[in-house]
Amino acid sequence: MNEDTPLYYTDYLKLDDLLSLQSPKSLERMGELAHEEMLFIIVHQAYELWFKQILHELDSVIAIFKQDYIDEKNVGVSVSRLNRIIEIQKLLIEQIRVLETMTPLDFLDFRDFLIPASGFQSYQFRLMENRLGLDPEQRKPFEKAPYHARLSKEHQQLLIKSEQSLSLFDLVEKWLERTPFLQFHGFDFWQTYRNTVQKMFERDRKSIENNPTLSEDEKETELTELAATEKSFSAIIDEDEHNRLREKGFRRLSFKATQAALLINLYRDEPILHLPFKLLTCLIEIDEFLTAWRYRHALMVQRMIGSKIGTGGSSGHQYLKMTAEKHKIFSDLTNLSTFFIPRSKLPELPEDLKKNLGFYYSKKES
Ligand code: HEM
Repeated sequence: MNEDTPLYYTDYLKLDDLLSLQSPKSLERMGELAHEEMLFIIVHQAYELWFKQILHELDSVIAIFKQDYIDEKNVGVSVSRLNRIIEIQKLLIEQIRVLETMTPLDFLDFRDFLIPASGFQSYQFRLMENRLGLDPEQRKPFEKAPYHARLSKEHQQLLIKSEQSLSLFDLVEKWLERTPFLQFHGFDFWQTYRNTVQKMFERDRKSIENNPTLSEDEKETELTELAATEKSFSAIIDEDEHNRLREKGFRRLSFKATQAALLINLYRDEPILHLPFKLLTCLIEIDEFLTAWRYRHALMVQRMIGSKIGTGGSSGHQYLKMTAEKHKIFSDLTNLSTFFIPRSKLPELPEDLKKNLGFYYSKKES
C-alpha cells in the first residue's frame, strides 16, 4: 500500500483481525454454539481493551510524576487523564448489566469448558492494581500461593517487574513530601491547627456534659467516643504516633505526605492548591470505583454461581467480597476527612504566605 492509498476504516482498526478473535469453546467441544458464550467472550474482550486504555493513561501519569519537578500544566494533564480513567471505570461497572442478561442456567451451558481459566488470570487487571500501588502485603492470599501463581511464566515476570517499579502511590507520596508551605517564614500551621482542634474538642465536651436530654450513662458513652476521636487526631500531629500506626498497617502514607495532603485539602480554595486538590480527589475516586467494581462483580458472581467455587478454584463470592474490602490503595487520602475542621475555624494564613499561594504576582503585573 503506498502513501496515496486512501485509508480504509476496516484496515485502520484491523477489524478483520479483531472480529475473528472469538472462539467459543462450546462450538469446539460440542460442535454447537452455546448462544450466550459469544456475549461472555465479547464482554471480557471489551473489558481487556478498556484495561489497556486505563494502563495507557496510568503509564503517562506515572511518567509525569517520575520527574523531579512537576509544573502546574502537567498536574492539569494528569488530572484530565485520571478523570478519563474514572469515566471508563463507570462504564466498566455498567457493563456488568449487559453480562447479567445471561441467566445462570445459560452460563451452565458452557461454564465447565472454561475450567481452570478465570478473570483471576487477567494480567492487565493485576498490572492496573500494581501500577496504582496496591500493597503486595495487603493482598488476600489465594490458596496460600502468590496471586500470580496461576499465570503464565511470561505474565508472572511482567507482574513481578511491575511490583518492583515505582507505583502511582509511591510517586504521589514523594510529590506530597516535596510540597512547600508546611513551614513558612515562622508560620507553624500545626501549632495553630492543634490549638484549634483542642478548642473544638473542649466545646464538644462541654456540650455533651451540659446536654439535659442525655442520661449519665449516655454522657459517659459519648465522652468516651469523643476521647477516642481526640486520640485519633494526635496521629496527624505526632509523628511517632503516626509511625506506630504505620508499622501496624493502619496507615501507609508517610507522616510528611499525610500532613501535606491534609493541608492541600484544608486550603484547597487557594488557587495554587486547587489542582493538587483535584488530583488527590481523582485518586480517591479511582480507588472508590475500583472497589465499587469489585463489589458489583462479586454480586454478579453470587447471582451466576451462588456459593459454588470459581472456575479459577477460589471460594468464589466470599473471596471476591474479601478483596473488595481489603484491596484498597488510597485509603489514607479517603480517611483524611477525619481531620477536617470547618472552614470557619481554619487558622488564617499570614498575608505573605497567601501571596505565595495565590496568583498574586501575575495579578499585579497585569
Ligand atoms: C459470568 C460472569 C463471571 C463469573 C461467574 C465470574 C466469576 C469469578 C470468580 C468466581 C472469581 C474468583 C476467582 C475464581 O475462583 O475464578 C473471579 C475473579 C475475577 N474476575 Fe470474574 N467472573 C465473571 C465475569 C467477569 C468479567 C466480565 C470480568 C472482566 C474482566 C471479570 C474479571 C475478574 C477479575 C479481574 C477477577 C480477579 C479479582 C480479584 O482477584 O480481586 N470477571 N471471577
